[in-house]
Amino acid sequence: MTARIIDGKAAAAAVLAEVKARVDAFRATKGRPPGLAVVLVGEDPASQVYVRNKGREAEAAGFRSEQHTLPVTTSQADLLALVARVNADPGIDGILVQLPLPKDIDAETVLTAIDPAKDVDGFHPVNVGLLGSGATDRALVPCTPAGSMILIESVLGPSLAGKHAVVVGRSNIVGKPIAQLLLQRDATVTIAHSRTADLAALCRQADVLVAAVGRPEMVRGDWVKPGAVVIDVGINRIPAPEKGEGKTRLVGDVAYAEAAAVASAITPVPGGVGPMTIALLMANTVTAAHLREG
Ligand code: GUN
Repeated sequence: MTARIIDGKAAAAAVLAEVKARVDAFRATKGRPPGLAVVLVGEDPASQVYVRNKGREAEAAGFRSEQHTLPVTTSQADLLALVARVNADPGIDGILVQLPLPKDIDAETVLTAIDPAKDVDGFHPVNVGLLGSGATDRALVPCTPAGSMILIESVLGPSLAGKHAVVVGRSNIVGKPIAQLLLQRDATVTIAHSRTADLAALCRQADVLVAAVGRPEMVRGDWVKPGAVVIDVGINRIPAPEKGEGKTRLVGDVAYAEAAAVASAITPVPGGVGPMTIALLMANTVTAAHLREG
């Protein structure tokens, strides 16, 4: 079998087209665009790229977009003061504090300080709780899991009844929330992680296999059940000496060529889940604007 390649760029473009229409409707009725504030502390190069892309996409979608870049030496108190300021700004509907934060800042304290109604990352305990209790109509749902679900739905449809989904990775950003979303679609869900016994054999039972561990090409072809749908959330930069000295390339958490020979459908890296994350951030921002303004 050669897997169908799930086109995340096309799916993201469809989400963004819908976002744009919702932004236009919001602006027409409220007299202002939805607003997104992105906060970056420090100079992590990958974070800088992500934040720049988020700002560019927000402007393309018609948002008011503002970026706050703070030095790596910023104190937690100063960051909390900025969060309080954007919380209080009526023209800002979405706030995203880019992770990871410098080591002297407690991420949980900062994420909990964000107004849950503006928490477009879906990381605030209120939104985590709403998602866990199934109130997805009121929750702001983390972007990467929500985007991954759209890709899964594009292959399997809305119901996952009777399907076994295995999520490899238990992070708060991806593993745990995607497990909740899969459960809500009636999948039977197993969350696996670094301490799971015989991970390969468990993965081979998966009709839907989600890899979100941050380890380059960890999931091998013989971990994949023939006909499975494989969602690769990993974005890892590895050396690529074949491209020249010092060159790198992006790979996922799945050994793509091996897995594509066995799966029925698979997301590529890049061009799979990645574009969906930004698109869902935009969707969450316009959703937050509507939830706040009625
Ligand atoms: N860093 C890596 N992924 C994410 C994300 O989804 N949101 C935020 N805020 N930071 C991240």
